Amino acid sequence: MENILYRLGNVKYKYSEDITALDGITLDIPGNKISAFAGTNGCGKTTLLYILNGLIFPSEGNVFYNDTLLEEKILSDTEFVRKFRSSNGLIFQDSDAQLFCSNVYEELTFGPKQLELDKAEISSRIESTAELLGITPLLKRSVSKLSGGEKKKVAIASVLTLNPSVLLMDEPTAGLDPKSQGILIDIIFELAEAGKTIIISTHDLGLIDDLKPLLFVMNESHQIESTGNTEDILADEELLYKVNLIHEHVHLHDGERHRHIHSHYKIHQHNSVKK
Ligand SMILES: Nc1ncnc2c1ncn2[C@@H]1O[C@H](COP(=O)(O)OP(=O)(O)OP(=O)(O)O)[C@@H](O)[C@H]1O
Ligand SMILES: [Mg+2]
Repeated sequence: MENILYRLGNVKYKYSEDITALDGITLDIPGNKISAFAGTNGCGKTTLLYILNGLIFPSEGNVFYNDTLLEEKILSDTEFVRKFRSSNGLIFQDSDAQLFCSNVYEELTFGPKQLELDKAEISSRIESTAELLGITPLLKRSVSKLSGGEKKKVAIASVLTLNPSVLLMDEPTAGLDPKSQGILIDIIFELAEAGKTIIISTHDLGLIDDLKPLLFVMNESHQIESTGNTEDILADEELLYKVNLIHEHVHLHDGERHRHIHSHYKIHQHNSVKK
């Protein structure tokens, strides 16, 4: 029997009477695996990750985390909140919403201090995470003066230093250069191999093709359009076109206009290498 970490039943979320962000989401998310939510702008990915991270609660329906119902009143259970916060980390889509300390080192120290780790452990976690993400030269810098991609790496590092068992990553590769994207993908694989649960939101089909997660495709009606493995879903052009993850492209060829379905992600061909 598969290990189910989250169980969502008919989850709806409205920001106001006329703004629906999620409209009846029913699904199970396995633990110790990589899952991803894919869908176009505004379909509800960030809202869903906020719900999975207990920042907001469904307007209707329910979310179970292991066997605990995530509802507003659990916030008064300090023991649950402490455990949940230390094991469940969200990397925000907007790094500015996540970073609030004045310099990078303080930013990376803040979370581990909340976990009451000792000084040597905190320094060692910061050092190794900064090294991994290539941000050691930034440690003394002011957060507000970093570039967008640098802020993203600091935001990622600030969650990795907590070593949570569940990582929620909202558009983790957005704004990162190709080398940094590659480093992040390697980190995600390592975390998954170590048994962590990784839940990603993205509209980057290249990232999905690299990670091969269990995939939940969302549509513009804020519902789940399809669920399945990456290979099957990426092969289904009709589905990808319907949810606007690929588009129709017009180009000129020998003076004639052609229309064809077009996406920007690259399909990798690997020659298998025997170890
Ligand atoms: N704070 C808010 N107040 C009102 N409406 C909001 C708020 N945040 C999001 N929305 C609306 O809720 C819907 C879902 O937004 P959400 O940010 O979850 O989408 P998303 O899939 O993450 O989009 P993107 O790919 O652009 O990040 C959108 O229609 C959005 O305009
Ligand atoms: Mg979003």
